[in-house]
Amino acid sequence: MSFDANTHREASLRNWEEAASGWTRRQELLRELGAPVSHWMLEAVSPRPGERVLELAAGLGETGMLAAELVAPMGGVIISDQAEAMLEGARARALALGLSNVEFQVLNAEWIDLPVASVDAVICRWGYMLMADPGTALSETRRVLRPGGRTALAVWDAIDYNPWALLPARELLERGLSSPPQPGTPGPFALGSSQALAELLERSGFSGVRMAELALVRRHSSFEELWDSTLDLSRVFHDTVLERPEAEIEEIKYALADRFAPYTARDGTLEIPGRTLLAYADA
Ligand SMILES: C[S@@+](CC[C@H](N)C(=O)[O-])C[C@H]1O[C@@H](n2cnc3c(N)ncnc32)[C@H](O)[C@@H]1O
Repeated sequence: MSFDANTHREASLRNWEEAASGWTRRQELLRELGAPVSHWMLEAVSPRPGERVLELAAGLGETGMLAAELVAPMGGVIISDQAEAMLEGARARALALGLSNVEFQVLNAEWIDLPVASVDAVICRWGYMLMADPGTALSETRRVLRPGGRTALAVWDAIDYNPWALLPARELLERGLSSPPQPGTPGPFALGSSQALAELLERSGFSGVRMAELALVRRHSSFEELWDSTLDLSRVFHDTVLERPEAEIEEIKYALADRFAPYTARDGTLEIPGRTLLAYADA
């Protein structure tokens, strides 16, 4: 089947509007998992007091809210996402943190609804690989950056380095419940190559590209908690599994517990490795 960008955009928006409640429920897990990634990105772009920072595909706005503290009191952060429901979760968090220099904007990163040269830094954690045309989104990113502006982004490395996603994907594939992703189409692991990502940044007009990889650990108190988190965080897994008959859902669950056994300690807790790619570039 050929890839249709607009069909993807519509499905992605629907998918993430629906995923927002599960993501909000799992925000502590995401915060812990993503903290080293956000810190790398912020260290790379080093937002200064008074600057204006844009976070793209922000989800619950974790990284943007950390940036808000760095640019305060005169500077501010625009936390943006295509999905209004994600931004609702982000608003609630900003309120809880008492942040007053954060604004929220629903926007698609492929059409950034901001003037040319209007921000000092753009950050995007785990967003570009999901977009229909990441090259266009990166060109848009550069367009809104002032001369001397900086960007930092994170994408997942190849799925083989991310067993938290590989094992559920394999289970569904081997059961004939899903098909392998088509090369060159958007998805969590679509930009999982340092070289390809660096080239994409350069083709989009960026210079001074610097790449890194970061090992992460996903921690769960039990397999049950891993199962529930996976249902909450992956809409594809959620929809594919939950439409099966009850007995088959149980089979899938037991089979997955087996697959995750190598990452399960005697007390039932799990530590599952992951790996993310990071990039910094000058506009
Ligand atoms: C994997 S989540 C990451 C959320 C957040 N950045 C984080 O690290 O926790 C991906 C987010 O990207 C958003 N997204 C995907 N494609 C987008 C696009 N073209 N424009 C804006 N947001 C997009 C989704 O709505 C979703 O909130």
